[in-house]
Amino acid sequence: MDAVNARAYLCVDAFMVDMAGATALSTAFETGVIDHLAQRPSGSMDALRNALKLDARGLQFLLGLLRANGVIDTGTEAPVLTPAFRAALAFRDILEAKLYFAKLVAPDFVQLLTALLMEPARFAEHARIFKLFAYQHALESTPDNLARTARWMRLTTALTAYEAGACIAAHDFSRYRRMLDVGGNSGEFALRLCRANPALEATVYDLPVVCEIGAAHVAGVAEGTRIRFVSRDRAQPALPAGHDLVTFKSMLHDWPDTEMADFLRRARDALAPGGTVLIFERGQLPVDTNALPLPYGQLPLMLFFRSYRTPQAYCAQLSALGFQSIAATEVRLDMPFILITATRP
Ligand SMILES: C[S@@+](CC[C@H](N)C(=O)[O-])C[C@H]1O[C@@H](n2cnc3c(N)ncnc32)[C@H](O)[C@@H]1O
Repeated sequence: MDAVNARAYLCVDAFMVDMAGATALSTAFETGVIDHLAQRPSGSMDALRNALKLDARGLQFLLGLLRANGVIDTGTEAPVLTPAFRAALAFRDILEAKLYFAKLVAPDFVQLLTALLMEPARFAEHARIFKLFAYQHALESTPDNLARTARWMRLTTALTAYEAGACIAAHDFSRYRRMLDVGGNSGEFALRLCRANPALEATVYDLPVVCEIGAAHVAGVAEGTRIRFVSRDRAQPALPAGHDLVTFKSMLHDWPDTEMADFLRRARDALAPGGTVLIFERGQLPVDTNALPLPYGQLPLMLFFRSYRTPQAYCAQLSALGFQSIAATEVRLDMPFILITATRP
């Protein structure tokens, strides 16, 4: 996949720029309006109303919001999906995942922005985003923990399915044979890399419940036979050895500097000489006086604004650990990503 195709999915962001439009779109998915219109391109208002049991004024209101959001054509009386929205529907998984994510954590922004800025500890205690990403429920396999963990993994998996394409377009992975993806989640990143590189095998290292769900996620696909999962074992901090590539995808920003450095040290120790560490991470947000207003769909990622580092912060750490040939580039997706590679001497 080339860099242009790898960015094609970003067209979904146009439909979640503001809260009213994005919320109307969520409702249109929930009520079946989108499926109805996608399947019947020349249907009428009455057919839509009868099929979905919506009252006339409610449906008019919803369609008005969808028209304003570019989902429905403004030039026709009968509701018709716009060509731009039909194109975005090709990326329905990430479209729905981003809408869901934004809706879930919008109250954190609306109700807790002051705490986020002035009292981060209070924000962490009350924010829905931290209740969603509750890693303490990913340690022991119980039905409740599996359900809770699967909920946030749906989001990380949808994002990774597309972000991986941009990483693959920006770096030549063909030279590697065995990769270790630390915090590799559902195995989606490994899966995409294995699909693009038939000689590649992967180890995904993550928390036990995440590994259990991940193993099921890759079980049904051909590349699944080249992906194994290793659960993090607190008593055994060393990362699994025997890999020529260790990757950290959207993982290190989760950790303060000392833990970030420790992960990179463990990666170095697990790599054979000449092996590569690769970091693919969100960079710092371009929120400044010249920037456009922050789109609603970006709110969930924005809440982590303190966690995103400069490339220099990672490069300095890699250099301190003795890595060589350190190289950093930027990949522009819904936010600037940084792609850093470095070699163990
Ligand atoms: C922000 S998510 C990123 C997941 C995935 N790499 C992606 O790009 O979407 C961080 C991942 O690190 C995992 N994780 C948390 N603590 C960990 C630990 N001590 N060792 C390994 N993985 C850990 C989480 O379960 C989660 O899958």
